[in-house]
Amino acid sequence: MITTLPDFPWDLLAPYKEQARQHAGGIVDLSVGTPVDPTPEIVRRALVDAADAPGYPATYGTPELRDAVAGWLIRRLGIEADPAAVLPVIGTKEAVAWLPTLLGAGPGDTVAFPELAYPTYDVGARLAGATPRAVDGLFSLGPETPKIVWINSPSNPTGKVLPAEHLRKVVAWARTRGAIVISDECYVELGWDAEPVSVLRPDVCDGDHRGLLALHSLSKRSNLAGYRAGFITGDPSLVAALLEIRKHAGMIVPAPVQAAMTAAFGDDAHVEEQRARYARRRAVLRTALESYGFRIDHSEAGLYLWASRDEPCWDTVKALAELGVLVAPGEFYGEAGARHVRVAITATDERVDAAVARLTA
Ligand SMILES: Cc1ncc(COP(=O)(O)O)c(C=O)c1O
Repeated sequence: MITTLPDFPWDLLAPYKEQARQHAGGIVDLSVGTPVDPTPEIVRRALVDAADAPGYPATYGTPELRDAVAGWLIRRLGIEADPAAVLPVIGTKEAVAWLPTLLGAGPGDTVAFPELAYPTYDVGARLAGATPRAVDGLFSLGPETPKIVWINSPSNPTGKVLPAEHLRKVVAWARTRGAIVISDECYVELGWDAEPVSVLRPDVCDGDHRGLLALHSLSKRSNLAGYRAGFITGDPSLVAALLEIRKHAGMIVPAPVQAAMTAAFGDDAHVEEQRARYARRRAVLRTALESYGFRIDHSEAGLYLWASRDEPCWDTVKALAELGVLVAPGEFYGEAGARHVRVAITATDERVDAAVARLTA
């Protein structure tokens, strides 16, 4: 298979990283959204307790895991999901990259995603040999019917939240055309100024999950990025088809990680603790960036501040690197981001406070 993948853009940031490292107070790296706080004790214990795992785990996940997920869906998101329609994945990035292929997209098919988006939607379309289409709204597709439409609310990178009425329109539009909607909801429990809504909520989809899939990750909610843990749910027939292929292909979440996931989805206290940490970091960074002359757009939810000084993003990256603060240029997420930078709120309190001190000096 010959696939044209985009250049890995992070290499372009390397010189600025080097520059930021030279700062006397050390680098404050706000360029990637990787969690830095401890994995909750309750989750670690579950992983260790399940360390004796000589046999093969089920691709489908343990019944305990699927029940824990179904419990979480109803408790936190107001979604009635059949545990049978829950399918664990090895972190959602692999699912984003492979879902178009696993759902049968190929040459001649279009995979649509937001014009400002997590780059892996584009990668997934290319891996399938389909045509990636970044769109600023479904109407810009004209009469074209994509095979798959990605939505991502709260958004990476902008932090924008799509309200229920908007999601309803997307679902209705896709249903009239037979397109599959995949909703990447990995920041759904990280709403600040707006309440994130799942595509599977009854007021969005009338309780009918046909043609819809939602993707959820434990990486951010539970500081579990290192475990690689997420799941897919939605249309039972699509989930069954995905299970079939993933079984054959050995795309299996390890048994100890399944046990850890079960514990994580059964507990909300650690999520509230983590939310409080992020809320403080977000508030102080936001104030400091504004006092430095930034405008913060969207950013109602999620782990990023979408900031602009109305100048080319690389100028902003350079100016902040001189302060020892590394951020991601908006153009990594699409041309529409050319005058923004993405500032992650995932550094330690100590590093966030260092950035704040430099921005407000
Ligand atoms: C929008 C979005 N989707 C999916 C992922 C992948 O997360 P993971 O593979 O850790 O579940 C990320 C990670 O940052 C993301 O921002």
